Amino acid sequence: MNKKVLVVNRLEKEALDELQQEADTNVFIGDASLENPEFLEALQDAEGITGLGLPVNKELLQAAPQLKIVSNVSVGHNNLDLEEMTKRGVMATNTPDVLNDTVADLAFSLILATSRRIPEMDQYVKTGKWQEDLPAELYGWDVHHKTLGIIGMGRIGEEIAHRAHHGFHMDILYHTRSKKPAAEEKFGATYCSLDDLLQKADFVVLMIPLTPSTKGMIGEREFSLMKETSIFINVSRGQNVVEEDLIAALQNGEIRAAGLDVFDPEPVVQDNPLLNMHNVVVTPHVGSSTYATELKMSKLAVKNLLIGLRGEKPGELLNEEVWER
Ligand code: GLV
Repeated sequence: MNKKVLVVNRLEKEALDELQQEADTNVFIGDASLENPEFLEALQDAEGITGLGLPVNKELLQAAPQLKIVSNVSVGHNNLDLEEMTKRGVMATNTPDVLNDTVADLAFSLILATSRRIPEMDQYVKTGKWQEDLPAELYGWDVHHKTLGIIGMGRIGEEIAHRAHHGFHMDILYHTRSKKPAAEEKFGATYCSLDDLLQKADFVVLMIPLTPSTKGMIGEREFSLMKETSIFINVSRGQNVVEEDLIAALQNGEIRAAGLDVFDPEPVVQDNPLLNMHNVVVTPHVGSSTYATELKMSKLAVKNLLIGLRGEKPGELLNEEVWER
């Protein structure tokens, strides 16, 4: 196949090698913005694009007249204007499932790191403060047998519930668009309204996609409903939360702590007050970033891309309508 493919910013080497054997591949590292003439030139003859987080909107689509498919190396696809892509007959794909366990592991890392105050304990030892017994004000809080509230019981949410139920004896509440009988049966999860979940959970984990209806879903009102002892975890997208309301809730003691993998904007700005709070544990949007999972995602993205370029239907097609046209 002599199709022209543009790889923007990220693809694991083994997957890139596979792609290069099949297609005429242009790897673009750098400023992938429409203001950059080099990027505009690269878009001109691209029939396929793969990469992470590239905003694919009307303007980009206009600049890429040959485009047939955009293959995201992520499960989230809030960077893609699906309506506009469908209008122009451009396929969109993502990489679900291969990252479920890895993201659930990170969610649990943040639950444990915030409640057992791991970064604080680490600094306590490394800075030589461990000269006597730990003062009681530095004790942590239990995770086991507590109540976990999961907002968004999708495939990753289920893996978080699995860990909570089987590993930590937690009670699970969940809120999602439609009830999930399988999760109720497997993990004893209880469906409840968002407000109920916020009022009852010891840990609130946000695991929803970013869409126009979820943007800013957790703000001042929602934080005020949470317990003063609750811990908030976000491994979804920063924009699902009104970040200044989260900052205020932490500053006012409306919630106890937060574990955050995602921010608005990203990368997080260095003077963001969240970065100076001892009760906030942060990671740089690495939910799926293990060697094994990044490779699986890259390989799946390449597979989707090549199938689409052959004129066949990729397994992870996001805009089915394109196919039905
Ligand atoms: C990561 O955030 C993803 O959407 O895969």
